[in-house]
Amino acid sequence: MHRVRGYKREKMRENELSLELLARLKSAQRVVALTGAGISAESGLPTFRGNGGLWKKYKAEDLASIEGFLQKPDVVWEWYEYRRSIYAQAKPNAGHLALAEFEKIFPGFTLITQNTDGLHRMAGNENILELHGSLRRNRCHSCGKLYPEKVEQNGKIPPRCACGGMLRPDVVWFGEPLSPFVLDKALEVSSRAEVFFSIGTSALVQPAATLPLLARRKGAALVEINIEETPLTSQADFFLRGTSSEWLGKIKERIV
Ligand code: OAD
Repeated sequence: MHRVRGYKREKMRENELSLELLARLKSAQRVVALTGAGISAESGLPTFRGNGGLWKKYKAEDLASIEGFLQKPDVVWEWYEYRRSIYAQAKPNAGHLALAEFEKIFPGFTLITQNTDGLHRMAGNENILELHGSLRRNRCHSCGKLYPEKVEQNGKIPPRCACGGMLRPDVVWFGEPLSPFVLDKALEVSSRAEVFFSIGTSALVQPAATLPLLARRKGAALVEINIEETPLTSQADFFLRGTSSEWLGKIKERIV
């Protein structure tokens, strides 16, 4: 662990959770965790950037965009079908399960996720803000009507809505706004957090990336868990280098 701001920055070895962090957690009520694709990596789901970030010759960032969908709706639909086929076999891992325990331990725990895989709900969390929507639903690109994940294709890729519009996953793409309700709630809980965890996210995508900074500015202890440093690391009070399952498991054991 590297501890920053007000502490001497020092390298932490295995099994050395700082007493300062544990004390903050033991007295905390309002705890927020922001998760990204890294937490699901150990469930076998590819992350968006780095290794596993390419599908065929396409970059995930180009496919998860409104421009990508309008230019190549069939390719984008097939990419999501591919992702769904992997997601269908995925199970929550120890990191997800520890965060489900956090919801029982901290009276005011909110999970904010950029993931669309539904694994946090499967693990048992209920108070979840899905910033980027959910792959478990589709919606009509034209009229907005919601559909379940599995829909009749009738030979069309992507399948069509009753209105004739193209169906797409009910997720937020680059170039699209987040749900104002979900974003407002995320801003509110982040600004009131006593401890804020940023877990398995490259902290590059806005507006999610502003949430940890907002929380810290408003007085939260900022804890980052990642296998590598990110643009957020220099702002973190506690940087836990390693996998989310490893660190969240250790933290859970020490605070129950
Ligand atoms: P990224 O793929 O950008 O980042 C994944 C992060 O997880 C990286 O920083 C990795 O170092 C880290 N990581 C990988 N395995 C890990 C593990 N086992 N434990 C801990 N950390 C690990 O994914 P996101 O930050 O989630 O948006 O990407 C944010 C958004 O960009 C996504 O929601 C998606 C994407 O384009 C949309 O689709 C709109």
